[in-house]
Amino acid sequence: MQPATADDTPGIVRVVRISPIGAKDALTADALAALSYWAEVVRIMRILSGIQPSGKLHLGNYLGAIRQHIELQNHHECLFFIANLHSLTTVNDPQRLADLTRDVALDYLALGLDPGKALLFRQSDVPEVTELTWILATVTGKGLLDRAHSYKDKVAHGITPTMGLYCYPLLMAADILIYRSNLVPVGRDQVQHIEMTQDIAGYFNNTYHCDALVRPEPKLNDAAVVPGLDGQKMSKSYGNTIDLFDDPKSARKRIMAIKTDSTPVEDPKDPDKCNVFAILRLLAANDETREWARRYRAGGMGYGQVKTRLSELFDQTMASARERRQTLAADPDYIEDVLSTAGRRARALAQSVMHDVRRACGLTVSAQSPQ
Ligand code: ADP
Ligand code: TRP
Repeated sequence: MQPATADDTPGIVRVVRISPIGAKDALTADALAALSYWAEVVRIMRILSGIQPSGKLHLGNYLGAIRQHIELQNHHECLFFIANLHSLTTVNDPQRLADLTRDVALDYLALGLDPGKALLFRQSDVPEVTELTWILATVTGKGLLDRAHSYKDKVAHGITPTMGLYCYPLLMAADILIYRSNLVPVGRDQVQHIEMTQDIAGYFNNTYHCDALVRPEPKLNDAAVVPGLDGQKMSKSYGNTIDLFDDPKSARKRIMAIKTDSTPVEDPKDPDKCNVFAILRLLAANDETREWARRYRAGGMGYGQVKTRLSELFDQTMASARERRQTLAADPDYIEDVLSTAGRRARALAQSVMHDVRRACGLTVSAQSPQ
């Protein structure tokens, strides 16, 4: 039976169910009468994302990235990696890098990543990614990297402007392209990097007249930028985070410290200008969010009340993950096994793409090549 749709959307079409006639509205009565079965199809995308082990994970990482990563594992082919090579741009203590890498793995597994459904691995377990970085560097104009916002931003925040930091978007492009990823779920701050990756894939394919590399698309969700305690983007580099696995008491203290304006309790307030509301709406059910918006606008509500509720919602969201994390932390061999098994599988995928890349640029001359 042929799949029902045949457009240019990337991804693998997979028939998920063949069942007695359903989806009747899609068919005319005559067509229905002629059929005995209807195939339901979905497109399985290859989803890839990376997260740096450069500090404790925070609510911005969870709402902007990790939560959707974990949802996606149920519907797509997912690869998530711990970007330890990227973190060398900021973490130069070997023990700390190893500890942070293990912590990110623990956090993901505690938050619901299922190693039976998605690959969770260390970036450095796929060394081919650094080879691809170099190859991509040779087809990318320097001007493209000069335009990267995140480089300027990081330097402005005191991170040493090394070549590694400057070339960061090339390594990120290699991370994405080496698995022929279709979709890259990230927060808004990373979109420029994905757009650069699209350009870089094009430069390579055009230079070598091939289609070895696949153009990825960014995938944003409604938590594209989660504000931190001071109202800037929540980021480990800005010291304004609510850390996911902080003990509940310190997390509550941080939430109570979120910056708000000085509108008196009795006055109406604008929920859309409030950092607390911006986070609350991402954790609360829709009805509750609407009710808080109404209370803001009505006046008579103090920011302390909404912060207290946010703190409860945070605790509810994290309660079972905190327990799971404790259990997992007691079994380091299991964590190592998850990472290295997934690393081997990811590497096999990368090696097959690198085979095409090397051939395209003449690095591999196979025995069958014409002389
Ligand atoms: P940080 O800025 O704390 O160093 P990272 O750059 O390591 O965070 O981000 C890891 C992932 O989390 C990325 O996909 C990024 O887009 C997402 N992310 C980080 N901070 C936020 C935020 N405040 N709001 C939404 N997404 C975020
Ligand atoms: N640059 C990303 C960040 O700082 C992490 C990252 C590295 C990444 N390689 C990637 C994200 C590839 C998505 C895809 O958050």
